[in-house]
Amino acid sequence: MCGIVGYLGKHDTKGILLDGLKELEYRGYDSAGIAVLQGDEFSYFKAVGKLVNLEAKTAGFSTSGFAAGIGHTRWATHGKPTEINAHPHLGESSYVVHNGIIENYQELKNALVAGGVHFLSQTDTEVIVHLFESLMNSGMEPMQAFRETVSRLKGAYAILLITKQMPDTIFFAKHGSPMIVGVNESDEKFFGSSDAALIGKCNRVVYLEDGQLGFVSRTGIHLENSNACVVPRFAALPESKLAAQKEGFRFFMEKEIYEQSEVLSDTLIGRLADEAIVFDELDPSLLDGINEIKLCACGTSYHAALASSYLFERLGKIRTSVEIASELRYKEPLLCSDTLFVAISQSGETADTLETLKMARAAGLKTLVICNVDNSSMVREADAAILTRAGIEKGVASTKAFATQMVVLWMFSLYVAQTKGAIGTQAMREQIALLREIPAVVKVDDGLHERIRRLSKRYLHGHGFFFIGRDIFFPLALEGALKLKEISYLHAEGYPSGEMKHGPIALADPELFTIALMPKNLLYDKTKSNVEELSARDATICAISDTPFEKADDFIPIAAHAHYMPEFFEMMVVLQLLSMEIAIRLGNDVDMPRNLAKSVTVE
Ligand code: G6P
Repeated sequence: MCGIVGYLGKHDTKGILLDGLKELEYRGYDSAGIAVLQGDEFSYFKAVGKLVNLEAKTAGFSTSGFAAGIGHTRWATHGKPTEINAHPHLGESSYVVHNGIIENYQELKNALVAGGVHFLSQTDTEVIVHLFESLMNSGMEPMQAFRETVSRLKGAYAILLITKQMPDTIFFAKHGSPMIVGVNESDEKFFGSSDAALIGKCNRVVYLEDGQLGFVSRTGIHLENSNACVVPRFAALPESKLAAQKEGFRFFMEKEIYEQSEVLSDTLIGRLADEAIVFDELDPSLLDGINEIKLCACGTSYHAALASSYLFERLGKIRTSVEIASELRYKEPLLCSDTLFVAISQSGETADTLETLKMARAAGLKTLVICNVDNSSMVREADAAILTRAGIEKGVASTKAFATQMVVLWMFSLYVAQTKGAIGTQAMREQIALLREIPAVVKVDDGLHERIRRLSKRYLHGHGFFFIGRDIFFPLALEGALKLKEISYLHAEGYPSGEMKHGPIALADPELFTIALMPKNLLYDKTKSNVEELSARDATICAISDTPFEKADDFIPIAAHAHYMPEFFEMMVVLQLLSMEIAIRLGNDVDMPRNLAKSVTVE
């Protein structure tokens, strides 16, 4: 996702900004830019693509003496990854960079446009700089205008702003997106949206808290919160860059599991109205003439497809089939033009999925891709795309990408329902309320994590694992088994609970570990009977449920929920943590498991 850097001081401002942006590259981005204010002269540069493009554009530029600079790597959310949409955004005499999403930008923009302001970009960010300037034009001092601007923003933001009206100053604000300000012995000031951008440049930092804003100047840091001055609380910076990128977590996979709550909020932003799902990126005619949905993917994305197929039929009331991309390619499928072909891919580059997308297009089907990477091959190939907004995922074992795919697919099943008139207002309201719960549901509870960590030591051997579940919990069981085998190298299978007696139960003995997904709100009694059958044959059972199950050897409790979708997402987190803790105990490299690749671009 986006990255921010800032620098106030007398050294090589351009070099410091570009270095900082390089340290944030790991977060993923599709364009970048910097703006530097020296005296009353602005210089700014933007480029689409990698930082080398920005470096090339700034080759002839340098600063001498004191300057204020801000920089940004942008990962597109509102508007395509173009130079115009890249940050910093310019007003008359100020520049701004921003991470996060301004939820009420449209409302603010409408008011500014009505007042004669001209917008250049499609971004939500641009409203910040115009609002700031319009408040200054109405007579406010810069700090007052900045404070007032921030108070009118709804959503998540980390902001840096520089203005000719107050040179040698950088204004900052933070709410919901990270921002750090650092100082060194030479009294230079630095900003970064993550530690990584600051390591080696300064040693004392303030991790800004939500609601804090202020400015840095030649003389120091002014920090305030709700109009009251705050004394900055300095902390020491970590020394290792890699550790900084992991933000204190042992592995990227762990960090990404913990990030799910935040990224799912991003996935939902702007897409939920009171009684409707809003996909601005879709042409309303996309579903015209469509009677069937065909979902196609590989790996974890295939599990998201399979899980969502239950929702498409149950909520969307539309016939749905699911295909593994490598199978679909050669089965000579009958592709009918009343089918919407939906490819699901974290990377947008998986060779098999990409080929099926091309096949579907060639057969005249409408195509949609659900993807995490804008401008990827699949996004470019498909008629329409919905971005999952998970940010870059580094762990090979997919976690947050799966979570965001599930939420997008769930929303899309409701979008189908609303378009086809298959869902009533009350039911839609209930679904939307459930969707809003999910970011909180996936927040990792420390106690639960510790319990899973302790319990994991009992599951390091055995002759195999069965993950079992019914209905939408069957694909979740498949995903749980995939996570475990990918990083622990233990044999694991996902199975529908009701199928165990048709073969696999022959394997049951104390060395067969069964991870049973037992949601209270979906077919609980049926699942319970299936688990009892295994327990009676002395299989070792680990039940995941809100209700203790006396026939289980181990029990991982989840919170009580009134619907199976929150149960689904909470169990997803449990399975991710369980496989990770087992793999860590086995001494494996959780982030880079043997033989696996993050993006599989060969057939
Ligand atoms: C690889 C990755 C998996 C991923 C699969 C599909 O096998 O290791 O984590 O689920 O590819 O990738 P995609 O980018 O298309 O979702």
